[in-house]
Amino acid sequence: MKHLIESQQFNQKSINKIFNLADKLEKKTDKSLNGKIMASLFYEPSTRTRFSFESAMLRLGGSVITTENAKEFSSAAKGETLEDSIRVINNYVDVIILRHYEQGASQRASLVSNVPIINAGDGPGQHPTQALLDLYTIKKELNKIDGIQIALVGDLKHGRTIRSLSYLLGKYKKVHIYFVSPLGLGVGTDIKEYLDKHKIIYSEIDSLEKIISKIDVLYQTRIQKERFKDEQEYLKFKGCFQIDLDLVNRMKTKSIIMHPLPRVDEILMEVDSSPKAVYFKQAKYGLLVRMALLKMIIKK
Ligand code: CP
Repeated sequence: MKHLIESQQFNQKSINKIFNLADKLEKKTDKSLNGKIMASLFYEPSTRTRFSFESAMLRLGGSVITTENAKEFSSAAKGETLEDSIRVINNYVDVIILRHYEQGASQRASLVSNVPIINAGDGPGQHPTQALLDLYTIKKELNKIDGIQIALVGDLKHGRTIRSLSYLLGKYKKVHIYFVSPLGLGVGTDIKEYLDKHKIIYSEIDSLEKIISKIDVLYQTRIQKERFKDEQEYLKFKGCFQIDLDLVNRMKTKSIIMHPLPRVDEILMEVDSSPKAVYFKQAKYGLLVRMALLKMIIKK
């Protein structure tokens, strides 16, 4: 694997390799990236992805150069193209972690980059490292991926984590995906076509009530305010599908609630103390998965 652009690049074998390495890195100190440099080039805001990648690189003995608002603080503000910025940064680092507001930006960057590009989210496109840590969380918490029933909830139209996770779930057996969204924010046809091709069972519904007692994973997402053309359109959907304790108490004993975060109001804080709420643990698993990815992708 040279560049990490989309979830479709992976198969079960490569996913297992990443997860096994993540398990090992949790237990053992590893400084094998000493002398290597990572650039985190973020054109869109981030807390988890940027900090966890930077922490992962530092924990592995490497160094980090970073810009947290490349749109304003890099030469993009003077009109430099993404491609030119990537060509230049290539001279300074061994890997580039790229978050960009345009779908397809990481793919474009990879075409001109000699060092690996890792897609850390490209607009409403994909967020493959998030999907890997999501899957790792499911495996760690439920001890299985095959056969799970999972509800993907919220803004499925704009959510890049939904797209990337759906593609990964499509690689497992007997998974049933419930896409739960309000009318107008449903999942894209590209995902449905992929799931059909891989014979994954899915249903599109507009209520959690009917399925809440049978799912293993409730994967909640934020309504992506920044992807709407105007505030009025966003306000039509704000506050739909709020998860409260009453709903959580109707879930199976051994089930989990996940969220890629950040959350706004779609999971009430009263849920945080439930043992089913694993979204903060999920963010912690992200560090291990990203350590594994950096170790595998950076040339020694
Ligand atoms: N889940 C996620 O991508 O979070 P950030 O936007 O904070 O990186």
